[in-house]
Amino acid sequence: MVSTIQGSGAGGSIVGGTGSSSPIRGRDEQLDVITGFLERVRAGVGGVAVIEGAAGLGKTRLLAAARATAHGLSFRTGLGAAEPGHSSVELAVLMEALFGGAESPIERTALGSHDGSREEPFWLLQDLETLMERAALRQPLLVCLDDVQWADAGCGFALRMLTQWLASLPVAWLIAVRPDQGAPQIRRALAELTTAGAATIRLTPLAASAVAEVAADVLGAPAGGDLLRTLAGVQGNPFLIVDLLAGLREENLVRLVDGRARLAENRVPHRLEDSMRRRLARTTPAGERVVAQPDRGDGPYPHRRPRRSGSGSHRRRDLRRCRRSSRVPARPGPGGGPQRRTRRGPPGP
Ligand SMILES: Nc1ncnc2c1ncn2[C@@H]1O[C@H](COP(=O)(O)OP(=O)(O)O)[C@@H](O)[C@H]1O
Ligand SMILES: [Mg+2]
Repeated sequence: MVSTIQGSGAGGSIVGGTGSSSPIRGRDEQLDVITGFLERVRAGVGGVAVIEGAAGLGKTRLLAAARATAHGLSFRTGLGAAEPGHSSVELAVLMEALFGGAESPIERTALGSHDGSREEPFWLLQDLETLMERAALRQPLLVCLDDVQWADAGCGFALRMLTQWLASLPVAWLIAVRPDQGAPQIRRALAELTTAGAATIRLTPLAASAVAEVAADVLGAPAGGDLLRTLAGVQGNPFLIVDLLAGLREENLVRLVDGRARLAENRVPHRLEDSMRRRLARTTPAGERVVAQPDRGDGPYPHRRPRRSGSGSHRRRDLRRCRRSSRVPARPGPGGGPQRRTRRGPPGP
């Protein structure tokens, strides 16, 4: 039996989840470490754990899972996420974690006004310490700070001070960061926290078995060998896996054949190229190189992009070239005939 697995709401035979609503896969070890960490903090001692992983490896997802576990352990939790270019806002990520959201760990009005004097940051930290101490005496606290590589330099100092001052109280700090990135003050602070005993939870690419589970979650059926081989091209990066699967569904490129999700066509979804490039451009120097360089065919996302400027006919011609360049040249298939495969996909069986 053959049927198409269609995109969300399109009324296909199977509509699976989309990443964040489907289960977290292949991170049992990390989840266990986080649960142990939270249990220790709940018993009365403050602690810091750093989740380290490149873009898309699942840091934000793990923070969400940690918050869910913490709620189950009667923690009050807060989450702040630093953003690129916002680092001029003093302590933004910390303030968001403590005072943001409907159920913030601390009442926003509890913080008095400050006069902007030179000593203010220090007094502000002392006020934060007092408020956090009061809150932690009522209920254990989990402070999640995401994308700390983009946090302002002052956050480095704040983290060092507050974690020390609150070390004897049930305050858990969970800090997600991309490796080897961030202002020197942030990197120094994280190094000091690690030396002082902070645990590091390193995220590596998902194992093939976890990739297969994610595929089955998103598509609602186990993936066939052809699809798994294509997924292997994104090297275990959950963001890219989920995005690739969502693109395949959206563009009706997956079919259900005898209960297995299989590729209906050997091409990469169009929407994928943009999102991957946007993500990569914000990621690492290596990512920027991949984005900046024209098609070399040796990376996981080496698709040529069309020009954004120029006349309509130039842009259309460029777009056609871009589409063509997302395929490798035809090569003989098993029966000797031509066989096309996507550039990201490994050779066929
Ligand atoms: N272990 C996992 N299992 C299933 N999906 C995951 C997993 N880790 C991340 N994802 C999904 O991959 C995408 C990217 O994850 P995210 O946490 O935003 O990465 P990061 O914060 O490291 O950039 C999200 O859609 C997320 O739900
Ligand atoms: Mg993230």
